[in-house]
Amino acid sequence: MSKDFQSWMGTVLAEVEAALSEQLPAVGAIPARLHAAMRYATLGGGKRVRPLLVFAAGELVEARPERRIAAALAVELIHAYSLIHDDLPCMDDDVLRRGRPTCHVEFDEATALLAGDALQTRAFELLAAPGLAEAERQLEMLALLARASGSLGMAGGQAVDLASVGKPLNQPELELMHAMKTGALIRAAVLLGAACGEQALSTAERERLDHFAKRVGLLFQVVDDVLDCTANTTTLGKTAGKDAAADKPTYVSLLGLEAARRYAEDLYQDARSSLAGFGAKADRLTGLADFICHRQF
Ligand code: IPE
Ligand code: IPE
Ligand code: MG
Ligand code: MG
Ligand code: MG
Repeated sequence: MSKDFQSWMGTVLAEVEAALSEQLPAVGAIPARLHAAMRYATLGGGKRVRPLLVFAAGELVEARPERRIAAALAVELIHAYSLIHDDLPCMDDDVLRRGRPTCHVEFDEATALLAGDALQTRAFELLAAPGLAEAERQLEMLALLARASGSLGMAGGQAVDLASVGKPLNQPELELMHAMKTGALIRAAVLLGAACGEQALSTAERERLDHFAKRVGLLFQVVDDVLDCTANTTTLGKTAGKDAAADKPTYVSLLGLEAARRYAEDLYQDARSSLAGFGAKADRLTGLADFICHRQF
């Protein structure tokens, strides 16, 4: 990772972290336990890949800073909610997340459920802030995030994931599940970033960016599958080896470890090449695809 990219990442992460803290309900505000759970599950951990993607895609269109940060927070709040629910006993039943006890372990199941619900609605509230963009644009952004989070996106993908325990899926079925449960929100981050500018992308540019977004979304979950079986619990900050233990279909169970790694590399190269026409404006997106493919946690 170049020094320049690292320093860009540091600047974005600092802005996102401060804004998240400011936009979450204040410590002590009633109901204090719910608000504590929302802050616990969102702050102080996480790679913030989705906000970084919003900022990186924003570079293509000279994104307006107030739109860019609202979009970045909205996607991250949906993501934080999805992780709380993903870890619940009725779903993956995990006790460790980001190196700490999961939300329902630290608090209780009902509080965790509600914290997820409230993070989700806070996300849409932020994106609905009066005057953030022209009404039509803002509605488009809201609809984009809603679709990505709903039954044809993340929530639907989670349903397929749970229904697939113990069932070997073929590659198209697995790809669809991953594209929904993880890819949809990653894709939304990229498209929201590109919607934050004064100028719009051409249809051809939008198509190439969307191809990038879909490939990176799938790449993210393929690498997550690989790391689940290769990295250790301390590095991951979540229990390693859970997918095999729970008999989940993953790219590793479908293709084997080496082929899953090669597939990740192919997705990365495909994603990169779809940005060729954007020139240096796409450097941050390329850097993030590299990070997503080659990360260790
Ligand atoms: C983990 O997401 C869940 C998946 C969608 C694979 P991340 O790996 O982005 O989790 P954090 O936010 O960095 O903890
Ligand atoms: C989670 O996938 C996807 C969402 C939270 C939508 P995983 O179940 O593989 O994520 P981890 O491995 O628990 O982070
Ligand atoms: Mg899961
Ligand atoms: Mg899980
Ligand atoms: Mg996983």
